[in-house]
Amino acid sequence: MSALPTSLTLGSLRVETPVVLAPMAGITNAAYRRLCAEQGAGLYVSEMITSRGLVEGDETTQKMLVFDELETVRSVQLYGTDPVYIGKAVEILCADHGVAHVDLNFGCPVPKVTRKGGGGALPWKRGLLGEILEHAVSAAAPYDVPVTMKTRKGLDDDHLTYLDAGRIAQESGVAAIALHGRTVQQAYSGQADWDAIAALVAHVDLPVLGNGDIWEAADALRMVEQTGAAGVVVGRGCLGRPWLFRDLAAAFNGEAVATLPALGEVRTMMRRHAELLSEHMGEERGCKEFRKHVAWYLKGFPAGGELRHQLALVDSLATLDDLLDGLDPDATFPERELGTPRGRQGAPRKKVALPDGWLDDTDGRGSHLREDANETTGG
Ligand SMILES: Cc1cc2nc3c(=O)[nH]c(=O)nc-3n(C[C@H](O)[C@H](O)[C@H](O)COP(=O)(O)O)c2cc1C
Repeated sequence: MSALPTSLTLGSLRVETPVVLAPMAGITNAAYRRLCAEQGAGLYVSEMITSRGLVEGDETTQKMLVFDELETVRSVQLYGTDPVYIGKAVEILCADHGVAHVDLNFGCPVPKVTRKGGGGALPWKRGLLGEILEHAVSAAAPYDVPVTMKTRKGLDDDHLTYLDAGRIAQESGVAAIALHGRTVQQAYSGQADWDAIAALVAHVDLPVLGNGDIWEAADALRMVEQTGAAGVVVGRGCLGRPWLFRDLAAAFNGEAVATLPALGEVRTMMRRHAELLSEHMGEERGCKEFRKHVAWYLKGFPAGGELRHQLALVDSLATLDDLLDGLDPDATFPERELGTPRGRQGAPRKKVALPDGWLDDTDGRGSHLREDANETTGG
């Protein structure tokens, strides 16, 4: 058993607790990052933005690049398949947006993305991966900004890429590699393979961040103990549960805390979330964005079908207040939900969508992959 890490070092960046909020498209916007940061002390990564969108000044991309005024460590996940675009995008993030950390997405399993060779498909092209990482690292170096990468085990069990990716990351000067212990083919189904995380830790000399199926703070400790990971990346476990970051910070501090808020406190958290979204996006859009979080917050609580339905249609903070009043503040936390999966799970894909002939060559240097400016589907 390895000693528990108490902080995380990514190049010049020191994170007070070895916990990272996973980039999640449509979720980890400025409001949600602030909400989570109010609870814990980790690193909070943005939704994925595309390098081409950034370089070409695409409007959707610009809108996504907002930060909360209290967000002192700006952490952005970038997607791309072209080393030159990635390099330029990193330069823009560092020079114009004061970003302190850039993460690169090599894990997205969405067919629309992998079909073009992006996300989780890209690490198959070892040469191209190296080129992209080198461009990113050298663009960030003058600003002393660490670059990390996030990936999966591989395309499928017969086409694993993560050990090579780790070696290439290390050779390219990347500050850490995060591994989601699933293949692209698995998408979000089945169980994350923490043994793969341990294998990567043994294979490389750079910090490895473990990702996949951390539902409680105790899972995070178990993961680092089992794998020797330098820290954890937490995604679905915090959906509708921003206080998980409080528990995680406490756990890495040696205190076993499991926050079990009564419905009254959950109500307060829901209001805060909707309020922050409204501050950042305006009330109408903010409330619309909030709708997708309702079912996660109320999972396992007694709320009633009609009230849930109304909450999922909320269009103003005043309506939200009225509806929240209908929830019993004294209802206790549904403990049977602890340790259970939340968010997307789904089924494995029959086949991974890839560009024609993708598997024929493992280098890919100099290839020209089509990269959309406004790709926002994420991981
Ligand atoms: C709604 C959603 C959106 C996601 N978007 C991204 C993304 O933009 N970039 C990325 O690298 N991963 C993305 N992911 C994957 C997560 O970062 C994480 O790797 C995955 O959910 C496994 O971790 P977990 O078991 O803690 O959820 C997304 C996941 C979800 C559920």
